[in-house]
Amino acid sequence: MTEFDITTVEIPAHIDPSGSDEFCQAVALRNHLDALTFGTNDTALNAAEELSLWQPSEFESYRMLVATVDGRVVGRGDYETTNGDDGDTAWLAVHVHPDYQRRGIGRALMAEIEELALSDRKRQAHCYAPAALSDGPVLESPTGFGSIPRDSAETQFMLASGYSFEQVERVSRLPLPLAGLHSLVDQAIDHCSRDYAVHEWAGRCPDRWVEDYAMLYSRMNTDAPSAGLEPPEDVWSVERIRENESRLISGELPPVVAAVEHVATAKLVGFTGLNVPQEPDRAIPQGNTIVIREHRGHRLGMLLKVLNLAHLDRVAPGHPSVITYNAEENRHMLAVNEAVGFVAIGYEGVWKKELR
Ligand SMILES: CC(C)(COP(=O)(O)OP(=O)(O)OC[C@H]1O[C@@H](n2cnc3c(N)ncnc32)[C@H](O)[C@@H]1OP(=O)(O)O)[C@@H](O)C(=O)NCCC(=O)NCCS
Repeated sequence: MTEFDITTVEIPAHIDPSGSDEFCQAVALRNHLDALTFGTNDTALNAAEELSLWQPSEFESYRMLVATVDGRVVGRGDYETTNGDDGDTAWLAVHVHPDYQRRGIGRALMAEIEELALSDRKRQAHCYAPAALSDGPVLESPTGFGSIPRDSAETQFMLASGYSFEQVERVSRLPLPLAGLHSLVDQAIDHCSRDYAVHEWAGRCPDRWVEDYAMLYSRMNTDAPSAGLEPPEDVWSVERIRENESRLISGELPPVVAAVEHVATAKLVGFTGLNVPQEPDRAIPQGNTIVIREHRGHRLGMLLKVLNLAHLDRVAPGHPSVITYNAEENRHMLAVNEAVGFVAIGYEGVWKKELR
């Protein structure tokens, strides 16, 4: 039996330049496991980017635990939740280095982060477990869309931990530069009704649009497919938008956004965001994309996606790819992404457990 300790990571104020503190080791561990599953380093965040996401927030709470063996980080458990009366859900993640798996470290980390959720009186836990592309036996998603490998460590661990399998998310990669982008933009504009106008910004949302932008963030929660996950109400205020933007900008992942206005009402009805790393050789994580229900069916999703890729090309050219995550039953979004050129590199199983 391996002896290990579990402790809470003290989130550092600055990145340790040697990269050897517990926080940096934990970041490297998650990146290593993701690269093994997805066959690319493109889903990685560097330590500075992750650090900005772990800063204290008025609206969200986080704790990171690590399992260490002889002082080395070999496992990591993440706890995240929203504050406020409606925040009844915790998002949990467990990662254990391949050399230390199957020794009870994952189970011990999961027990501790579930305990944090219980002591915060959370009703349910959600986990997003990475799943590789595979030809072997699968578990079909209860949504009827997608599947994950049945016999993998992740699936067996989640089942052994008492979670129910709820949904599949597709992880897709778009190689850049995109051949034919300009003709895709021209086609999308040709198809677009004059009822809509497009706006773009990099960094902070202009004050003129920020209330609408907060409304669109809140609608992500109600208008995106959520299977049987029963997500909590998750209201975004202008203050929360500004806090989130500040964290992304200080973590050197500033948003590059395209948004669409319904001209008759002078309201934003959709947007798409890319969170763009500083170094041009790094992949870009796709942020949120939404067209609210009332304005679907006008090809605005395609318009937003291709316009923002052209916007990216102007403000931050040279990145190798964009990485995006979509619910497998979100056929409209997947159809847009496939038409643009995104290709699946793996999946995530989405799991739920009632805690009380
Ligand atoms: C999933 C993961 C966290 C498991 O970590 P671990 O330390 O190996 O897990 P444990 O040793 O505590 O296993 C607990 C139970 O899970 C099940 N399990 C774990 N790995 C398994 C495997 N490879 N095959 C079959 N069952 C497995 C078993 O029931 C095991 O109990 P047992 O060993 O007494 O039979 C690890 O494989 C990992 O980091 N994977 C990548 C990240 C990930 O998918 N995280 C999942 C949630 S976000």
